[in-house]
Amino acid sequence: MKKTVLITGASRGIGKATAIEFAKKGYNVVINYVSNDDAASNLKSFIVENYDVDVMLCKCDVSCEEDVKKMVSDIINNFGHIDVLVNNAGIAIDTTFEDKTVENFRKILDVNLIGSFLVSKEVCKHMLVNKKGSIVNVASTNGIDTYYPYALDYDASKAALISFTHNLSLQLSPYIRVNAVAPGWTNTEQIKEMDKDLIKDESEKIYLKRFAKPEEIAKAIYFLASDDASYINNEVLRVDGGCNHA
Ligand SMILES: NC(=O)c1ccc[n+]([C@@H]2O[C@H](COP(=O)([O-])OP(=O)(O)OC[C@H]3O[C@@H](n4cnc5c(N)ncnc54)[C@H](OP(=O)(O)O)[C@@H]3O)[C@@H](O)[C@H]2O)c1
Repeated sequence: MKKTVLITGASRGIGKATAIEFAKKGYNVVINYVSNDDAASNLKSFIVENYDVDVMLCKCDVSCEEDVKKMVSDIINNFGHIDVLVNNAGIAIDTTFEDKTVENFRKILDVNLIGSFLVSKEVCKHMLVNKKGSIVNVASTNGIDTYYPYALDYDASKAALISFTHNLSLQLSPYIRVNAVAPGWTNTEQIKEMDKDLIKDESEKIYLKRFAKPEEIAKAIYFLASDDASYINNEVLRVDGGCNHA
């Protein structure tokens, strides 16, 4: 029987690369997204045409509790089980400290942190019945160190997601492993507005002298979720090419 993975925020970027990586490994894939119907259905077509797996699209705002409950119930009705959850959906709204607003700060926490909590809570009910499963939270090196002054709210959300990872791995033991990947700069739409000079400066600080490709983050996510990482639990894996931000 094929395993099933639910990846939140999988229509683009790191989530999309992760969906393809799991499909390559023979998983049925659930692609969650919030608005970009074309990107999600193009990805579904690509996977179905290239891999022998089933794909389900779930348009759902991960920060909306009722919608998350319905999404997980629909997935269980369709596939019967969820073996791996990747909490990847995330947003950033970069501004100066003076321009930060309570509304935007809450929005970031709602998606990056509360969304991961809501989806985990619903999915775990089913994983615990089967007494097995694996969760990977997509945090950020910004949740470990401070690199970028404009991301105060984003950094706080990712630090909290790392704390959430540690607490959840304790609570769900010994049945469900919970780990986090902390990517550094990665070439996705999240950084498309970034100033070219800043990209150059930041690349210089990375030992490998370049930003990550989404596929390189996806491979780390897959590894942590897979049975090859069967004794890795409560871990935060930096995937940042080696970095010195001093
Ligand atoms: N790129 C980087 O440099 C970097 C570095 C470290 C960590 N990360 C983290 O890695 C994750 C993926 O980042 P990315 O750069 O691949 O992002 P991205 O290209 O901006 O894609 C974001 C994805 O999240 C989805 N999404 C946004 N809000 C959502 C919501 N409320 N509910 C459900 N889905 C939602 C989007 O769906 P739609 O397409 O429908 O809008 C899209 O699929 C994020 O958690 C991010 O913080 C990124």
